[in-house]
Amino acid sequence: MSSDKVSRFPYPFSSDVYRYSNNSLLLDPPIAIEVTPEYEDEITLKRKLLTDCHSRCYQSLPHTLQAQWEVVSVVLHHLAETYPASFTLDKKENLWTFTNHILNETATFMFGDAGTLPIEPLDFVGRHVQEDLIVMGQRDNDLFLDAGQLCFPANWSLQFNLGMNFVEIHTPIPGFSADRLDEKIRNFIMRLENGQPWVRRNWSLNAGHKLDSSLETFHLWGQKRKEITAENAGQEVYLRVEVQKLFRLPRTHAVLFTIHTHLISLQELSLNRDYAKQLYHVLVELPDFIADYKGMKLFRGQTINYLHNLFNEAGC
Ligand code: HEM
Repeated sequence: MSSDKVSRFPYPFSSDVYRYSNNSLLLDPPIAIEVTPEYEDEITLKRKLLTDCHSRCYQSLPHTLQAQWEVVSVVLHHLAETYPASFTLDKKENLWTFTNHILNETATFMFGDAGTLPIEPLDFVGRHVQEDLIVMGQRDNDLFLDAGQLCFPANWSLQFNLGMNFVEIHTPIPGFSADRLDEKIRNFIMRLENGQPWVRRNWSLNAGHKLDSSLETFHLWGQKRKEITAENAGQEVYLRVEVQKLFRLPRTHAVLFTIHTHLISLQELSLNRDYAKQLYHVLVELPDFIADYKGMKLFRGQTINYLHNLFNEAGC
């Protein structure tokens, strides 16, 4: 038995062993955004977070306006071309009219003139997609986090990371600089070509259904991890997968990094027995330093027991 949610879930594993690597693949088709059945709920949550905690969820350096307009162009074209029944884009020279038919909203603005939008271009366009949107500027042979709209972070802070370079951003990850993996991945991104985007899947486990697990609100959601038992893990533990895409922006040579976060409870994931078995093996084998960094120290054992019991009860 399998559910629609499991079959469309971006399952992240290709083997029973997980290690950090450059697991990027060429993105085919080359589309930055995906609209899922969770669209309206997630956009509502995103907009609430942006209203309530704007500086936590949106940051930009002043020189990024041109790159932000490039992101507007990529995202609106992809929405209109991929989901024409839900989004339309009408262009009369620089006068653009974008209609979001799901939300029944229309915006008209002069492309390239930030004064014709009520908020910054990146902030505007991010409110129409489930993805978080990060702009990495490329200069001085390096990549810098120059702007972002980030509502659903996996325990990191946009405000803290703004202006950092790629290697600095990844410093907290244990073992990530071994064999200069961090520099190799940075150099790979710096060679990114226009029209040849890449995609990768990052994963972790969440205690509770929580998309907005920001570092700033850790005290609110982190405690949930202490409540996990082998009995409730099926409902309370979620596999969290981020589908991350990298696009070259041709005019500014910046990089657009999109993050689409998906959550599925282990109970629902286990409708696919192969997935549940493989997750069990990955969790059993995972070195402590990766499990601890991913924040599952307090409930890895309980989650393993839950998955183990599933197969014992089923007699297989
Ligand atoms: C260029 C855009 C990227 C940005 C802005 C970015 C940002 C981040 C951030 C903020 C974290 C969390 C660090 C923390 O704990 O504070 C992270 C984790 C990580 N990043 Fe990136 N990243 C990017 C691209 C990539 C790419 C292309 C790869 C690999 C090919 C990668 C691999 C990783 C890995 C393995 C982790 C640890 C995740 C985990 O274990 O759950 N990143 N990244």
